[in-house]
Amino acid sequence: MRSSLQNISSSNILISPSILAADFANLESEIKRVETADMLHLDVMDGHFVPNISYGVPVIQSLRSKTDMLFDAHLMISHPHKYIDIFAKAGADHITVHVESDGDVNEWIKQIRDAGCSVGLSVKPNTPAIEVIPYLNEIDMVLVMTVEPGFGGQKFMNDMMPKIKEIRSAIEKIGRNVHIQVDGGISIDTAPIAIEAGANSLVAGTAIFKFSEGADVSIRKMRTN
Ligand code: DX5
Ligand code: ZN
Repeated sequence: MRSSLQNISSSNILISPSILAADFANLESEIKRVETADMLHLDVMDGHFVPNISYGVPVIQSLRSKTDMLFDAHLMISHPHKYIDIFAKAGADHITVHVESDGDVNEWIKQIRDAGCSVGLSVKPNTPAIEVIPYLNEIDMVLVMTVEPGFGGQKFMNDMMPKIKEIRSAIEKIGRNVHIQVDGGISIDTAPIAIEAGANSLVAGTAIFKFSEGADVSIRKMRTN
């Protein structure tokens, strides 16, 4: 039985390596390098919601038989309702969709739940906290983007910290176990800034897969910094 975000307290620091920065010719051995992390971040890009195309169902399906890690799918796609069920079947345990995508947020939440996955809602840098706060009673995670989605290796946006603080205090008010994830430019240097603001789940691609001392060292340092 794989773990579920719903059963993990948001008081834990959770590391989610993004395979976007991995060597795609050797994905099986790449995920073995990050097995000490808490989950695996899977960035799905459709070339429409974001100006880049990454990978999709066949890759996730192939990886599913290679590891028991929790699969954290981040759908950067225009029409999530068409694909939520397919990604759940492919092996996603958690699905995050963007509030800026086309369709109905409440429907996506129901669809993700019905598919047996935990639910995440994400906001791009220009989208204010108020766009996700009304849904906090229904979801398991908020993903606050700390770069414009689409590419790895970009610079961490410090000015997203007030948004994280606002969402964390709204979560505290309702007293639910809702994780706050940050994604983009996270490293052993920026992780403490995001944690201080109230984030507990850290996505990192470049700073883990390309860390000179080794991926496991980066994971450990981010968790304990
Ligand atoms: C960007 C993706 C990220 C990306 C992060 O749109 O959502 O998950 O892989 O890459 P780094 O950690 O290199 O900024
Ligand atoms: Zn991502």
